[in-house]
Amino acid sequence: MCGIVAYVGRKIAQPLLIEGLKRLEYRGYDSAGIAVIDQKGAMHIRRAVGRISVLEDALQRVPTLPDASLGMAHTRWATHGAPTEANAHPHTDDTGRIALVHNGIIENYAALKKFLTNKGHAFSSQTDTEVLAMLIGDLYADMQVKNQVLPGTSLLQQAVQAALHEVDGTYGIAVICKDEPDTLVVARKGSPLIIGVGQEEYIVASDASAIVEHTTQVVYLNDNEMAVLKPGSFRTTTINNITISPVISQLENKLEEYELGDYEHYMLKEIFEQPSAIRNCLRGRAEQKESRIVLGGIVDHTRELVRAKRFILTGQGTAWHAGLVGDYLMEDLAKVTTECTYASEFRYRNPLVEEGTVVVAISQSGETADTLAALREAKEKGALALGIVNVVGSTIARETDGGIYLHAGPEIGVASTKAFTCQCVVLTMLALFLGRRKFMSQSVCHEMIDGLCAVPEQIERVLEQSDHVKQIAREFCDRENWLFLGRGYHFPVALEGALKLKEISYIHSEGMPAAEMKHGPIALINEGMPVVFIATKGSQYDKVISNIEEVRARGGKIIVVATEGDTNIHKYSDHVIEVPHALEPLQPLLSVVPLQLLAYHCAVARDCNVDKPRNLAKSVTVE
Ligand code: AGP
Ligand code: GLU
Repeated sequence: MCGIVAYVGRKIAQPLLIEGLKRLEYRGYDSAGIAVIDQKGAMHIRRAVGRISVLEDALQRVPTLPDASLGMAHTRWATHGAPTEANAHPHTDDTGRIALVHNGIIENYAALKKFLTNKGHAFSSQTDTEVLAMLIGDLYADMQVKNQVLPGTSLLQQAVQAALHEVDGTYGIAVICKDEPDTLVVARKGSPLIIGVGQEEYIVASDASAIVEHTTQVVYLNDNEMAVLKPGSFRTTTINNITISPVISQLENKLEEYELGDYEHYMLKEIFEQPSAIRNCLRGRAEQKESRIVLGGIVDHTRELVRAKRFILTGQGTAWHAGLVGDYLMEDLAKVTTECTYASEFRYRNPLVEEGTVVVAISQSGETADTLAALREAKEKGALALGIVNVVGSTIARETDGGIYLHAGPEIGVASTKAFTCQCVVLTMLALFLGRRKFMSQSVCHEMIDGLCAVPEQIERVLEQSDHVKQIAREFCDRENWLFLGRGYHFPVALEGALKLKEISYIHSEGMPAAEMKHGPIALINEGMPVVFIATKGSQYDKVISNIEEVRARGGKIIVVATEGDTNIHKYSDHVIEVPHALEPLQPLLSVVPLQLLAYHCAVARDCNVDKPRNLAKSVTVE
């Protein structure tokens, strides 16, 4: 959701900033803009509604921007005010001296706007962001008159610090000022910012994908921290101006991992990457020979984890679905009381967190505001906090007491796919790690680890059926209502199948436990309605068959995900997609793949923008 790229150095900023914005496109946005300050100290701003290509067109028009080595750019995902050019970032104060780009929400913007309006300032947008730009400008002017510059700081830095003290809410910001044409000030609270450290240059971005092309040396800003960057030097402080020594980290992912390669869409690429992503996720952790699970990120907490009385798994969207699979896994394999709850609900229900509670935040991006808020609430109430996160160095990863990275590689498609399967793999390893230390026999553990290690090859077999799934998608893609049904481990998979379809095809779909259907939703079924069942061989197979019969009797079209070689199921189905047999706790890893493909092929058949679905953002950094 929304993106920032900013540059200070010796190169020409504009092409670099536009390239950076393109790398951030996948996060979702509705408008974009750029500001640069040239050698003479003149500010130049261009903004446009829609795609970055529209901004590029605007930049082609005369007068074009002069060469400048200081600048910043933004993709906006509107929270306050419609996606119009006037509301697009950068925003300036009313003198045009200060320009600001902002991710997040200024919660007390209305009060600040009133205060600034009473002081005679005139606003030109409906955004909360403009209020912050105006406040910085107002404080800057005041400090300049009073000649209040502290030694070792710049006036811009001081004005930003003073303004941030007045602000409630969340922000990742970059600020420039005409009077200081070699200075870039950035700050964060609740919205990520990463500083890429190059040769006498810095590229700051809200996501590593915009940095990796330039440098792999980065500094992750923490909440309430800021940096003042000039060509060849930078200083990090708290927003209270206390100097902090920056920790330089190395970016893990390579540039190629962010590229589309030969695939038509990132989502398809990531569906097909699942075998390798899972291999990377298992590497060094699931030891087949020794029947052992090694999880370095949580091993220091083994005692607390084994003694824990209750696990709360939390996340949003797909991560929450993985958490639901985890709920079954933890009770089934680790024999520990577990619940899976939406982070957004957990946070505000005044949750009971007794001694011996472990909270596990699940998040691909590690930046989801709801999940982060739940994590902080749980920590404050004394829980041990673990993270299951993909993006290394992300906020959730840094704020947890321990955790397990997915190592799935960058996920660019807005519809999460490989993160889901890797989250399920990690949760399986966590359940085995605990189960083995409690009641699980070595042979059961051994069988599970063998099963896990076979999953990548089994998924490869499922992927071979992509064309078969495409045919099914073509037949049904014009139906506007779908149901996805499964029992046990396959209930969360049904939810995930339905979410994928609605996200990228804009088809109304619902997932639910197959048994729940007859308690109401069965009323929806009419002639020709596609109903997808997950009916692999397992403990509830016969029950699912009964549910299939109930739908067939009412004219629904039956699409079934079934076990390879199950000839019986054909009697009950219009279409069958086969997946290899696996142990029941591992079956979701296979049965979800055809549903991802189904959603993908439906979206393509309906001519939808698969990687940039309408209204959606890759990472939702506002509550
Ligand atoms: C998944 O397809 C979605 N785009 C969305 O539900 C996502 O899973 C959710 O926003 C959580 O994101 P996270 O994993 O980055 O925390
Ligand atoms: N709240 C700001 C706005 O609506 C920033 C939104 C964003 O993070 O892109 O303009």
